[in-house]
Amino acid sequence: MQAILDELEAKREQARLGGGQRRIDTQHGKGKLTARERIDLLLDEGSFEEYDMFVTHRCTDFGMQDDKPMGDGVITGWGTVNGRMVYVFSQDFTVFGGSLSETHAQKICKIMDMALRNGAPVIGLNDSGGARIQEGVASLAGYADVFMRNVQASGVVPQISVIMGPCAGGAVYSPAMTDFIFMVEDSSYMFVTGPDVVKTVTNEVVTAEELGGARTHTAKSSVADAAFKNDVEALIQTRRLIDFLPLTAKEKPPVRPFHDDAARVEMSLDTLIPANPNTPYDMRELILKVADEGDFFEIQEAYAKNMITGFIRLEGKPVGVVANQPMVLAGCLDIDSSRKAARFVRFCDAFNIPLLTLVDVPGFLPGTAQEYNGIIKHGAKLLFAFAEATVPKVTVITRKAYGGAYDVMSSKHIGGDINYAWPTAEIAVMGAKGATEILYRSELDDADKIAKRTEDYEDRFANPFVAAERGFIDEVIMPHSTRRRVSRAFAALENKSVEMPYRKHNNIPL
Ligand code: HXC
Repeated sequence: MQAILDELEAKREQARLGGGQRRIDTQHGKGKLTARERIDLLLDEGSFEEYDMFVTHRCTDFGMQDDKPMGDGVITGWGTVNGRMVYVFSQDFTVFGGSLSETHAQKICKIMDMALRNGAPVIGLNDSGGARIQEGVASLAGYADVFMRNVQASGVVPQISVIMGPCAGGAVYSPAMTDFIFMVEDSSYMFVTGPDVVKTVTNEVVTAEELGGARTHTAKSSVADAAFKNDVEALIQTRRLIDFLPLTAKEKPPVRPFHDDAARVEMSLDTLIPANPNTPYDMRELILKVADEGDFFEIQEAYAKNMITGFIRLEGKPVGVVANQPMVLAGCLDIDSSRKAARFVRFCDAFNIPLLTLVDVPGFLPGTAQEYNGIIKHGAKLLFAFAEATVPKVTVITRKAYGGAYDVMSSKHIGGDINYAWPTAEIAVMGAKGATEILYRSELDDADKIAKRTEDYEDRFANPFVAAERGFIDEVIMPHSTRRRVSRAFAALENKSVEMPYRKHNNIPL
């Protein structure tokens, strides 16, 4: 009997070695952890339950029948993150470069099916040379099986992709259909075609890093949601993100113990808004002062910086924050910021995470670049996303809320549940100067008259009270009491329930 047990242990030991010590050393030499080391860091210690450790590929071409490493280049199973269940797959670059074979895909599909049945997120640690070249179309079919499950799982369980090595060709489309993509700086990249193909087809000379590295995808393309310095940091931050999310769309996000006063007063917020309405200030300061313990997990920090998106907790409960940032482009809405915020709002709504919207928006960014690239359709994404979201929605207007952008930013009219304004709010069709120049065009030559007209307009409209008179603002609140007011608002919305009419699905302007 002991011999049989020893045999199993020896087999396990061999499987754990993946592609062998030499390749493990090469992996470490590149500053990368192995697939198993990554799982150990992602999950609570000792919580990993592995499946399919002894699976091998079935390929017999190119002499592959003589090289059948156990596990076939991906480690799969489940474990816990701070006690909560997640399914995980981790591609092993030491086995055929982590490339995806028919059986490798079957292993991933198996845990995705389990995650859907049992209700838990799927975390994919990607480090792969793409389709297993020796397997040809069987590998492509394997990818498509994974893609199909990504779509079936979308909005049912959270899906997170961490890109920790190459991810190329059609392989990028599985991460692209998950909820969040994290990358590791200098060691991960994603592209549909690599630098060599780019050179052949377009004659462009570009490095892999420039074409699809972490900086490119976090700052330029917005394909990735965050980048981290190394594997360890990326995995720690993935754990942090999971703590904000429910395990499935059927449940509310987890409530954590908190060590902050829900009624905390922040007197400094009374002077956050500068005297000059054109002077910027940092909206992040408000977010940090409202959040439990000043803890903010920002999503897409490097992209469309005129909009801030991310997660905080109020009284221990996760809340998604969408905020205009007056420090960048005066906080206006443009194509990039609308797309960024729309996707975030839809994620929060899909997974029962209430939304806090902080508004200081002078309008949509004008210009041919915006119009030619479809600001109408992209801006509509954000409008649509806010309007369709049925989670509790609380809005605070700190300063400008002009024009269509006022409507878009979770206004009362599109379903904001509780809409507050600071006394510094200016809720109007447009700024005073622009309005007077249109209304009193014939007086433009007379500077004094125009100055007087502008002053009159400011007195009449540059405040929150015209909107408050109509009930479009539920209350004008003191800036220093924002955390208390917002926390109480969400507490009052805890049992919000909305019935939606039957439809197959809506038709958001993609
Ligand atoms: C089989 C592969 C492989 C692959 C790498 N290997 N990619 N084996 N299929 N796709 C193997 C190598 O033979 C090598 O084996 C080991 O993995 C490590 O590869 P290296 O080249 O030594 O590593 P490195 O220098 O770090 O380069 C990594 C790499 C490169 C950039 C990923 O290997 C590469 O370009 N691979 C091919 C990528 C590719 O074209 N894939 C197909 C994309 S199309 P040994 O035995 O020496 O350790 C695609 C379509 C998907 O994926 C479509 C979905 C719909």
